[in-house]
Amino acid sequence: MRILIVEDSRINQYIARDTLLKFLLDCEIEFAMDGEEALEMIYTQPIDLVLLDIIMPKLTGLQVLEQLNKASYKHLPKVIMLTTISDAKILKACFDQGATDYIKKPFEEMDFISRINSALREIKNEQALKRNAELLETQNIKLIEANESLKLAQYHLVQKEKLVAIGELAAGIAHEINNPLAFVTSNFTNVRQYVSTLKTFLEQLYATLESDESVLNQDLKVSLLESWERNDLAFILDDFPELIIDSQKGLDRVAKIVSSMRNFARLSDDEYFEYVYIADLFEEVFIVVNNEVKYSANIITDFPECPPIYCNKGQIEQILVNLLVNAVHAIKNQIHDGMGTIRIHTIPHEDACEIIICDNGTGIKEAHLSKIFDPFFTTKPEGQGTGLGLSITHNIVVDKHHGRIHVDSQWGNGACFHIFLPYKIDIE
Ligand SMILES: Nc1ncnc2c1ncn2[C@@H]1O[C@H](COP(=O)(O)OP(=O)(O)OP(=O)(O)O)[C@@H](O)[C@H]1O
Ligand SMILES: [Mg+2]
Repeated sequence: MRILIVEDSRINQYIARDTLLKFLLDCEIEFAMDGEEALEMIYTQPIDLVLLDIIMPKLTGLQVLEQLNKASYKHLPKVIMLTTISDAKILKACFDQGATDYIKKPFEEMDFISRINSALREIKNEQALKRNAELLETQNIKLIEANESLKLAQYHLVQKEKLVAIGELAAGIAHEINNPLAFVTSNFTNVRQYVSTLKTFLEQLYATLESDESVLNQDLKVSLLESWERNDLAFILDDFPELIIDSQKGLDRVAKIVSSMRNFARLSDDEYFEYVYIADLFEEVFIVVNNEVKYSANIITDFPECPPIYCNKGQIEQILVNLLVNAVHAIKNQIHDGMGTIRIHTIPHEDACEIIICDNGTGIKEAHLSKIFDPFFTTKPEGQGTGLGLSITHNIVVDKHHGRIHVDSQWGNGACFHIFLPYKIDIE
């Protein structure tokens, strides 16, 4: 305990000190000759108890108390007034200003020491209480953090299990579709060939029938030509190859969807890293988000060749999906009629590929900019957003791929997310 004796009489200082040292083993004693010196010491060092004279040069004891209160101290020492006067008025004012007790001068040993002891006991109790409160506070903070990370871990787990389940389902369906798709695709190549041959043959037949007067059965010729016209065979023969080309495109698309579904099945594989071109990733991502995007936004891309990045493909696809879905939501909130725009481009840097995804949606309020990557932060109505999309994105970019992500946005003016993914990373 540090005790400050503020007293302009040296004799009284020494009497107080000697009495303290005689009865209290565990204390350090400091002296101040006047109020100003006392304030200076209380400002600059931790003092637990002040024995404060009332009548002193420069500042009175009461004025010292007033100053202490004005400065709104974090750690106010306990104050016991030392008084020779029995002026109840001044003492009362001192109590109003925070003094807790008084000791009469000349000191009476037992009175002096018992009051000091009781003040020190109070101080010790208060300090213990404060320590307990601080301990509780830190434990509380730790509990809140543990709770948050538990929730996050649980979400990750559920999400992962969901992905595994969806992945298995997708892989199963993809496998089932793949076989018929393979033979329909291969048959289509033949169909195309056959149609072309048939078309040539029928057109030649028609031309011969029409121009050759020597055909024996004129009735048959007329009826065949009529039937040709009636059934619009010229148009059918022209349209047929087009239909086949269109159908072929449809089949290619189904094949792409099947391949995306198979890739999706690998989403749950955290450990698998490979070299991938960003443009190829986006091709699969667009298939996944197509439904979400097509009625709300046009996507404009510009992918100057970045070297391939070493990444977990499923995870990077997941973050691109998160970012595109967020952009669509922001656009829907901003543009009620008509389509918004999502611009995506890449910049090849020396050691990383920068992906920039900009939308012309609502933008982000300045006060939210520092929070959007926090887990559970969402501005969506309850039940609609978990607020985990961007925190998972941050985790995947920064922790899993040693990259960076940041956002530029102004409320009302859309948002641009910049993601830097290194070409090479050391995975521990
Ligand atoms: N492109 C964007 N434009 C405007 N605000 C955005 C954009 N992307 C994210 N935000 C803001 O950041 C918040 C957090 O996004 P995050 O993806 O983490 O969660 P969420 O989209 O709200 O919920 P969830 O992803 O679980 O559906 C959003 O609620 C939104 O306020
Ligand atoms: Mg989201």
